[in-house]
Amino acid sequence: MKAKTLFYCTQCGYEMPKWQGKCPGCGEWNTVVEQPAQQKKSAGRTAAGLAPQSMPKLMTQVESGDELRFSTGMRELDRVLGGGAVKGSLVLLGGAPGIGKSTLMLQICEQMCCTSKVLYVSGEESERQIKLRAERLRVKGENLYLLAETNLEHILDAAHQICPDVLIVDSIQTLYNGDLSTVPGSVGQVKECTMTLMQLAKGEGLTVFIIGHINKEGSIAGPKVLEHMVDCVLYFEGEQHMSHRILRAAKNRFGATNEIGVFEMQDIGLAEVPNPSEALLQGRPADAPGSCVTCVMEGARPVLAEVQALVVPSNFGNPRRTSNGFDYNRAMLVLAVLEKRGGLLLGNCDAYINVIGGLYLDEPAADLAMMIAMASSFRDKPVPDDLVAIGEVGLTGELRSVSSLGQRLSEVRRLGFAKCIVPSRSSEKLVVPDGLQLIRVSNIRQALSAVL
Ligand code: TYD
Ligand code: MG
Repeated sequence: MKAKTLFYCTQCGYEMPKWQGKCPGCGEWNTVVEQPAQQKKSAGRTAAGLAPQSMPKLMTQVESGDELRFSTGMRELDRVLGGGAVKGSLVLLGGAPGIGKSTLMLQICEQMCCTSKVLYVSGEESERQIKLRAERLRVKGENLYLLAETNLEHILDAAHQICPDVLIVDSIQTLYNGDLSTVPGSVGQVKECTMTLMQLAKGEGLTVFIIGHINKEGSIAGPKVLEHMVDCVLYFEGEQHMSHRILRAAKNRFGATNEIGVFEMQDIGLAEVPNPSEALLQGRPADAPGSCVTCVMEGARPVLAEVQALVVPSNFGNPRRTSNGFDYNRAMLVLAVLEKRGGLLLGNCDAYINVIGGLYLDEPAADLAMMIAMASSFRDKPVPDDLVAIGEVGLTGELRSVSSLGQRLSEVRRLGFAKCIVPSRSSEKLVVPDGLQLIRVSNIRQALSAVL
């Protein structure tokens, strides 16, 4: 007989015997999920894998020890995880179809198999398909167990039988718990399966990697609570037509979230890109108006990126503006400052902004380069090839200094650039690398006359 199930609202907790689109309790839409009745009661306390009857402990008596970390064999992935994978943690990896999630997971098996037992569960491919892929990726996998399965209970049985140190699940949307009547991939199923895997990770101290599909808004398909439950949420991004892939952490209980990992998709799988600046600047057009290079900090690492702008007279009453890889509102703000303080008549122009290589620049230090790229496109005059621009643009057109300028300048010089335009208020004590000419400017007018 099927176990009785209950439906309840993830927003307000209202319980109901049948699924409804709108919660009668709080009136929210699409918040009702299904859960087996007997599990609903215990869901709260077992969510974090705690013992059923836990008593408060004095913090001084809690044994901490360092988190036990191990390398995944991919330095770029280790960096994003905060210095390796943590034992007993659950990592959710999201990304668009075909971006390389399964490839990445299979590739890390190679190294992890040397020291630990790995169970790779796939609900999307057969064992034979995985084997073929592994052969192509040159993954020998001595200690790698494969299982093509979607029933959660069978996966748990296999995990208890094999006792792996690492469990990889591809993907959470294909798993199902037979106790629920809903189909795999539904909110209730995804939540339930994640919860169970979380208990497994905390209870047995094994590291679980879960692949998650993303919805059209770009976040992991399923309830938002999924991201709250797990220890670490990673997103694998990149442009479909380009070979570069960027891995970033949206959440990490064991490290910072501002580090990125850069990979390149090749014929034999993903290769790490230890020098992202070089890769991102590849194929930069020479002498082309509308392009300017900047240097942003991605975590502790300076990365050079090319910002492109196309500014053309608009054919319609309302000029069209788009921004890709750069915050739209920030871009419009810089455009307004350029018009008012820089004296460029951009009011009747369309403006298209793009950051090359799939990078998303969310640092104000990239403002100046974006502004120069727009001005360069507007005036149809190229920016010198050997120039990099770093600086935040203020509302009065002033340039504000940025952090870690010394580190950025070293990276700029390392990649062979000869000139760097920086805010004049930057620290006087700055160590400028040999061969790099610093152009200090205090506002955008000075910046424009210095480069264009
Ligand atoms: P995959 O890991 O299956 O993507 P996901 O699991 O995120 O959906 O990667 C599929 C793409 O990667 C596919 O379009 C082909 C490409 N690819 C390579 O270019 N080289 C390779 O060695 C592999 C395995 C895949
Ligand atoms: Mg896949």
